[in-house]
Amino acid sequence: MATMDKQRRAEFLSRMTGIMNGGALSLMCSIGHKTGLFDTMSSMEPATSHEIAEAAGLNERYVREWLAAVSAGGVVDYDAEAGTFHLPPEHAGLLTRASGPLNLTTYCQYVALLGQVEDEVVTAFREGGGVPYDRFPAFQTLVAESSGQRLDKALISQVVPLLPGGYDRLAAGIDVADVGCGSGRALNLLAAEFPQSRFTGFDIAEHALERGRAMAAERGSTNITFEAADAAQIAHNEEFDLITTFDAIHDQAKPDTVLKAIFNALRPGGTYLCVEPKASSHLHENLDLPMAPMMYTISTMHCMTVSLAYDGDGLGTAWGEQLAIEKLTDAGFVDIQVGGIADDRANTYFVMNKPGGPG
Ligand SMILES: C[S@@+](CC[C@H](N)C(=O)[O-])C[C@H]1O[C@@H](n2cnc3c(N)ncnc32)[C@H](O)[C@@H]1O
Repeated sequence: MATMDKQRRAEFLSRMTGIMNGGALSLMCSIGHKTGLFDTMSSMEPATSHEIAEAAGLNERYVREWLAAVSAGGVVDYDAEAGTFHLPPEHAGLLTRASGPLNLTTYCQYVALLGQVEDEVVTAFREGGGVPYDRFPAFQTLVAESSGQRLDKALISQVVPLLPGGYDRLAAGIDVADVGCGSGRALNLLAAEFPQSRFTGFDIAEHALERGRAMAAERGSTNITFEAADAAQIAHNEEFDLITTFDAIHDQAKPDTVLKAIFNALRPGGTYLCVEPKASSHLHENLDLPMAPMMYTISTMHCMTVSLAYDGDGLGTAWGEQLAIEKLTDAGFVDIQVGGIADDRANTYFVMNKPGGPG
């Protein structure tokens, strides 16, 4: 029998305790976000549970228990003598809606969401297959919220400049498609900024498209349409000058077919922007990424399993840069540029062309 390294065991016990507490606190941070407690506390001086509950319009007993959990977890400061709780500004900047893309509580919501399908994922471990999209009814809303806080801040100012001729081409008027557009936030932002261009969103989730349509109607944008379509079978040939995918290739059942469909839908000389989670295709190069455990967990319990549910390739969230370049090249794309933006450290921005076109 191997000898036990007691020091190593003690360290791991401490690590496991941290894991259990971290999982639990993710739920508390998610609740702090959904109830608006962090937003409320960010503008309050140190206050009692009664004052905080009243300011947030919530039940005091629940708020007091939540405050105990987040104080014990070092999220909120507790003054035992005064009986008050305070959210320090250094923490508020990472926990509130006002923090935009830095609001990490949005991502804390994934723990509860993925927990809803845990038993089905366990069954898939035993029997193969996967958990299909319709078992994640709240997923679209959550993705829209987390990607939305990034897109609102950076789409026009940081992402558009990555595209060849970026702002000018869009301002002059081109045909743009977003494949796997979800709730259509990216397209709605672009459609409002570039009224001369025409925008089409494709997704299989009709309820997500409905939200995209509602946002377009609210903003009075008439240059945007949403089509329910399987990305592997886009019935458009050489009709777009620019196609984008945001976080929408790795969970496809047939990513190669989708990339080929995108290639065919582009006009010669057209541009494809493919945004995918920042990762290497080699596990050992991902181990030190700050969010690697979260990335592989979301993959196991959503991105990979939805693909396998449709007998797909199951690429996984961390399919990575090397494999992406290989597949993009196989689809026919050229001049593949690998980049990123300041306000989105978690994704890689691949920009490339379809050969041909004027000149
Ligand atoms: C992770 S979400 C990203 C949504 C959106 N692009 C965003 O960033 O907020 C992936 C999207 O791809 C869509 N999708 C998955 N498979 C698809 C397929 N075969 N055809 C069209 N859309 C698909 C899903 O419904 C989902 O909206």
